Amino acid sequence: MDRTEIKQLNIELQEETAENILKRVLPIFGDRIALSSSLGAEDQVLTDMILKIEPAARIFTLDTGRLFPETYDLIDRTSRKYKTKIEIFFPDHQKVEEMVNNKGINLFYESITNRKACCHIRKIEPLQRAFTTMDAWICGLRASQAITRQNIDIIEWDENNGLIKINPLAHWSEDDVWQYIKTHKVPYNTLHDKGFPSIGCQPCTRAIQPGEDLRAGRWWWENPDTKECGLHKR
Ligand code: ADX
Ligand code: SF4
Repeated sequence: MDRTEIKQLNIELQEETAENILKRVLPIFGDRIALSSSLGAEDQVLTDMILKIEPAARIFTLDTGRLFPETYDLIDRTSRKYKTKIEIFFPDHQKVEEMVNNKGINLFYESITNRKACCHIRKIEPLQRAFTTMDAWICGLRASQAITRQNIDIIEWDENNGLIKINPLAHWSEDDVWQYIKTHKVPYNTLHDKGFPSIGCQPCTRAIQPGEDLRAGRWWWENPDTKECGLHKR
């Protein structure tokens, strides 16, 4: 699919439901498309939709080694409920060893450079390895999540990673997500009930207070415009 076709499809899919977007794109890419899941609420919605459309569809997660126990538990619960195998990608053990032995186990609190280095080794490199098996990836991004996400499209060329990126929930609100989860009894991370709307690695995520921004608990010591780990650089 070339860039003109991607633009065309993006226009066609603007008014479609997330299910219809998935029904349209899954057969185009077959086993060269996968849902990138952090096991967050949006990704759980997509997991439910995708597996109802295509039970053999691919779902993968990046296990940074620093996830919450609740997230590991949800990987297990989700795999059992949907009788599916979530593919797990791990970071290179030598690079992690070198990094933590040189810079400390909690290096990310020291500087943005350290934080980005950790995200690079624990998330970006494994993601790039995952991409060698894909022509398109599906993400749970929503435009209203962050200022850095306002301009996302339903289907776009991911310049940074060199493949097609599909954001079926681009126009969804947080309420839409929770409505779907409740209606379809989708398993979700128990941390969401404890003030964690956005969940990443345990040391880099904290609960938020009522009224705070949805992503205020992610890398809370940093400025809002640096708060992307590189997965969704634009
Ligand atoms: S992040 O870049 O700040 O970590 P966020 O947690 O909002 O991203 O998740 C946005 C989307 O990125 C998710 O819906 C999912 O598609 C993808 N994603 C984030 N973390 C992971 C992960 N650990 N494994 C796989 N995909 C992920
Ligand atoms: Fe490392 Fe924190 Fe990034 Fe996870 S979110 S990879 S622990 S810096």
